[in-house]
Amino acid sequence: MKKDFQPFLLEREMSIWENQVEYNLSESGVHPMTMRDLFFNNEDLIEETLSTELNYPQTNGTIELREKIARLYPGAAPGQVVVTAGAAQANFTTLLTLLDPGDEIAVMLPNYMQIWGIAKNFNFSLKTFSLKEELGWGLDLDEFSQVISAKTRLIAICNPNNPTGYILTPEERATIVQAADKVGAWILADEVYAGAEHNTDEFTPSFWGDYERVFAVGSLSKAYALPGLRLGWVVAPDEFADEIWARQDYITISATMLGNKLAAYALSSEVHPRIVARTREYVRRGYGNFESWCHEKSDLISLVPPQAAAIAFVRYNRQINSSELVRRLIAEQSTLVVPGDHFGLDHHLRISYGLPNDYVNEGLERIYQTLISS
Ligand SMILES: Cc1ncc(COP(=O)(O)O)c(C=O)c1O
Repeated sequence: MKKDFQPFLLEREMSIWENQVEYNLSESGVHPMTMRDLFFNNEDLIEETLSTELNYPQTNGTIELREKIARLYPGAAPGQVVVTAGAAQANFTTLLTLLDPGDEIAVMLPNYMQIWGIAKNFNFSLKTFSLKEELGWGLDLDEFSQVISAKTRLIAICNPNNPTGYILTPEERATIVQAADKVGAWILADEVYAGAEHNTDEFTPSFWGDYERVFAVGSLSKAYALPGLRLGWVVAPDEFADEIWARQDYITISATMLGNKLAAYALSSEVHPRIVARTREYVRRGYGNFESWCHEKSDLISLVPPQAAAIAFVRYNRQINSSELVRRLIAEQSTLVVPGDHFGLDHHLRISYGLPNDYVNEGLERIYQTLISS
């Protein structure tokens, strides 16, 4: 057994606690849809779904689904799409395809720490660069330019970012692409929160199409409120799409038939706008409510407004370590949020608000009670 295995703390802790606490404000997506919400009284679809043979789909994804995904990316072809069991598998398989132990990867922080943890566990040479709170979560350009070098093989970004909800500006995007191009590095763009924007109805543009060496990762888990389908994808240049698929044969073989089928329906021109409108309604209504709470508690909490996703990464002005604070919250208030430690930045909490307001408000009150007594 590998002795210094780096566990994925965020996922493991959430998995243990999210169904045990009374108030779970740890999720980063909006309130999930039911099958009934998705079917929306479409009797034909219900009948068709009931008659679907639960066979293996084509293992890189059904042609129908890959065509629909490809349409979301400028100039992409269905053969460049690999459908995976969630973005988590897309990230994992892409890293295994591109990198050997010792290869250098530069990872954006704060971040969903999956890629960071994989880098540790597979002995990639790990460098990090930061979004800085004092820059409104903008990219620290000096640090970034120092980190990227001729040794950099892959730059891993998350845009819109988890946990801050920050969206890179056109200038920051250009800086990243130019730096990658200069040294021939690849960019892995985890874009699972695109579609959950607060202030615009435009989707955050993909890095796909900005540069030739891009892996664009997406998913139905966040902006489409269907995390339980376990349906994600990676869009990659032809040769790499085939290589990623070849590794997937060993890992999961494929995503599920039902996932492929319902995903194609969710991404159809009829249903896609309806799901995105639902997500934006949750995100925007939820944020207004959450922002008022932050203003009321500004003695304890400071917030840089997120631009996307149903989460905010707030700083609290108490000395207590964030993991310790969350342990207290669970034990004393039966409430779960994610500690800043799990994103590589202590003294912060990631709080989710893409849920019914009454539920969120009770959870927030409990967080406040624990914070003032810490
Ligand atoms: C940035 C990011 N990437 C990937 C994932 C995993 O997504 P999926 O459910 O599609 O595997 C998450 C889940 O929280 C995430 O925040």
